[in-house]
Amino acid sequence: MARYSKKYKLGLDIGSSLIKVCLPRRPGRPEVLRIPTPEGTVSKGVLQDPEGISDHLRQWMRKNQLDHYYVVATLPASTLVLRHVQLPRMKPRDLAEAIEWEARRVLPFPLEEAQLDWVVQDTVVSEEGEMQNILLVAVRDTIVERYVQAIVGAGLKVAALDISPLALGRWLLKNAQGSSLIIDIGAESTQVHFFQDVKLMFSRSFSVGGAEATWAIATAANVSFAEAEEMKLRGKYREDWLDSWYRELGREVQRSLEYYRSNFSNNAEEPFERVILSGGAAMTRGVDTFIGEVTGVEPGFAEFYSKDRRPRRDKIMYNVALGAGMWGRK
Ligand SMILES: Nc1ncnc2c1ncn2[C@@H]1O[C@H](COP(=O)(O)OP(=O)(O)OP(=O)(O)O)[C@@H](O)[C@H]1O
Ligand SMILES: [Mg+2]
Repeated sequence: MARYSKKYKLGLDIGSSLIKVCLPRRPGRPEVLRIPTPEGTVSKGVLQDPEGISDHLRQWMRKNQLDHYYVVATLPASTLVLRHVQLPRMKPRDLAEAIEWEARRVLPFPLEEAQLDWVVQDTVVSEEGEMQNILLVAVRDTIVERYVQAIVGAGLKVAALDISPLALGRWLLKNAQGSSLIIDIGAESTQVHFFQDVKLMFSRSFSVGGAEATWAIATAANVSFAEAEEMKLRGKYREDWLDSWYRELGREVQRSLEYYRSNFSNNAEEPFERVILSGGAAMTRGVDTFIGEVTGVEPGFAEFYSKDRRPRRDKIMYNVALGAGMWGRK
């Protein structure tokens, strides 16, 4: 029987166009693998057909000798319900009960049909005494089951299910102070995550991604989607072909900023301390300049390094999987 490694966890990010796997064995230079997502199994970032993923995943993991690791897989922001609650300090058992009570009050679906988890983000002293700020995370059972089924069906063991914003924060923010914005532009979805220090405040997702940029290139150059994708990856396109794509992306990012500022931020005008781009489609030419204009902050990319220690921007699509692989580390 295979012996399972206890030391390292395999981060798994099942995306609409690529399944990303990451083993963070060496700091700064994690082992990564990407596998094409079987057509029709993931839509707009959300897993639809677990069986369609399992066999495929099993073969790839065996071939790459990665089948003896515990897996931490991520759920995308669009499947999550995040709520902030404040509770007094209390014994762990009382806290669990109080959280359940709060969850019944704030969640849009019955607790019996969902998985609930929480993170104590910090403690503040108020007039009522010492209060804990808690982030509740809830996901419907039907969604959780799909992800577990895909992983178990591939012959892998689940160590945990993580959520993509927390995975990104774990790897990209570490001990960051101040406000951060992480924008993950995938193939069929974009997720915008807002953090205060290392605390996740809010996530929003929308269905605009790299596939639409490819369609825009296909239309402008009068070629097929596959040909346009190849042109895009080789940088053979004019930025003005993507004008309407930029506009749509910009509108949605702007909407996310406005929602965040009116609901979560005390100072609406204060610029973000940092804006970090993630996801494959963030490498589309001009995206950094344009996100800089929308947010007022020049965005950065994750610091992956190649063998010669030169930054490798092309690795940013692994950020979610890498953060998941770092799950549970001190
Ligand atoms: N160099 C590049 N320039 C432009 N786009 C790129 C580049 N490399 C990859 N992409 C695009 O990135 C996308 C894949 O990125 P990623 O793996 O982050 O998406 P995903 O996780 O599969 O999708 P989603 O998050 O929407 O489920 C594809 O649309 C691909 O065309
Ligand atoms: Mg993705």
